[in-house]
Amino acid sequence: MLVSVTMSLLIPPLPRSSKVNATGRLEVAGCDVVELATEFGTPLFIYDEQEIRDRCRAYMEAFSTRSSNFEVIYASKAFSCIAICQLMAAEGLSLDAASGGELYTALTAWFPPEKIFLHGNANTAGELELALRSEVGHIVIDSMDEMMELDRIAARRGRRQQVLLRITPGIEAHTHDFIQTGKLDSKFGFALAEGVALDAVAAAKKAGSLDLVGIHAHIGSQIFSLEPYRQTAARLADFLAAAREKHGFDCRLLDLGGGLGAVYGPDDDPPPVDRLAEAIVSSVEAEMARVELPPPRIAVEPGRSIVANAGLTAYEVETVKTVAGLRNFVAVNGGMSDNLRPMLYGAVYQALIAGRPLAEPTITAAIAGKHCESGDILVNEASLPGPVPGDILVTAATGAYGYSMANNYNGQPRPAVIFVKDGNAQVVIKRESYEDLVHLQEKLE
Ligand SMILES: Cc1ncc(COP(=O)(O)O)c(C=O)c1O
Repeated sequence: MLVSVTMSLLIPPLPRSSKVNATGRLEVAGCDVVELATEFGTPLFIYDEQEIRDRCRAYMEAFSTRSSNFEVIYASKAFSCIAICQLMAAEGLSLDAASGGELYTALTAWFPPEKIFLHGNANTAGELELALRSEVGHIVIDSMDEMMELDRIAARRGRRQQVLLRITPGIEAHTHDFIQTGKLDSKFGFALAEGVALDAVAAAKKAGSLDLVGIHAHIGSQIFSLEPYRQTAARLADFLAAAREKHGFDCRLLDLGGGLGAVYGPDDDPPPVDRLAEAIVSSVEAEMARVELPPPRIAVEPGRSIVANAGLTAYEVETVKTVAGLRNFVAVNGGMSDNLRPMLYGAVYQALIAGRPLAEPTITAAIAGKHCESGDILVNEASLPGPVPGDILVTAATGAYGYSMANNYNGQPRPAVIFVKDGNAQVVIKRESYEDLVHLQEKLE
């Protein structure tokens, strides 16, 4: 009789409910992954709903035990759909939308607009109109052009809009260059240098239809050190002291963005949320006291650290081949169209065979995607127990920046997404069909 083994101990990036069930197969939240693949098809994104809720609660608890004036804002760019917006609302989080599309999704989920923050470094007039029309709580202004445009539209609509200024603190966050956003050479925000950010405060205070309530900084993603957050708090406190003195600006909301890392491999060891909250709350309070300003409301915008490890992707093995003297390739029925991160950032994922997760590995192989790109490799080196066509292969920790970056390259329909909980599975995003691929297309006249 096989004992039930907790898989997240063996393969850390899997959801904590993962285990090997009595039939020796991988099970997540009481659902057998091979059966899920049979029922819903593959490629398939599987989210452990309770894991997401637990991670939301860990954030809320970590901040509520340290501050009575805070806000946890889910960064929906990590994974956006109606169901996740509903879940975040139910868990009491606010929501960051980085485009009209993410905003529209949240509104469709009846997410309370006053708890929505619109971000973006190139918002269109249409996106700003949608945000104003739906009365979002805050818009995070990224440039002077946007500020002027927003003030114009708000005036025309007779709305006074609460805004934050996105500040670029010039902090290096020791992560992949493409996901570093706080350094000086950044397309995002108002630089601290040369008084650019101070001028923005002056302009925002003069803008008749804008109510400048605070500032925002997001220094990067997949961050494992808490020091950059402390440094950011110090830099922003100095900035706020100057902004107070020069322009009489009282900061009511200080949003330190997201960025806490997730576990993709055995060496990944991000600090727990509790320590992040401690570092942020204590450094903001200490730095604001240092510059003799009252502590503002503190906000953070986690994305990856809430959804990454709650998700996994199931594929079907299509072919297994060996290039003599070089390597083995195990090709699956997905790849860069459902997970761009290996190609984009060199991200490393763990893989296993769901039907025999504990079996002894017999080969090392590259997990190849099905797209016409040599670089379409999901995992460079995976140790697998004799994979054969028809096997269900799982990659762990695909819950963030996976489906949200999915695309239709090579005419590949986007996968289905399910939430699993207590042995039940619910489709939250249907699989695209070939008809869906062409439904916006017109025939040549
Ligand atoms: C402005 C902003 N906030 C929050 C996030 C979420 O970051 P993470 O998923 O690393 O927590 C991002 C990610 O790029 C971002 O750009």
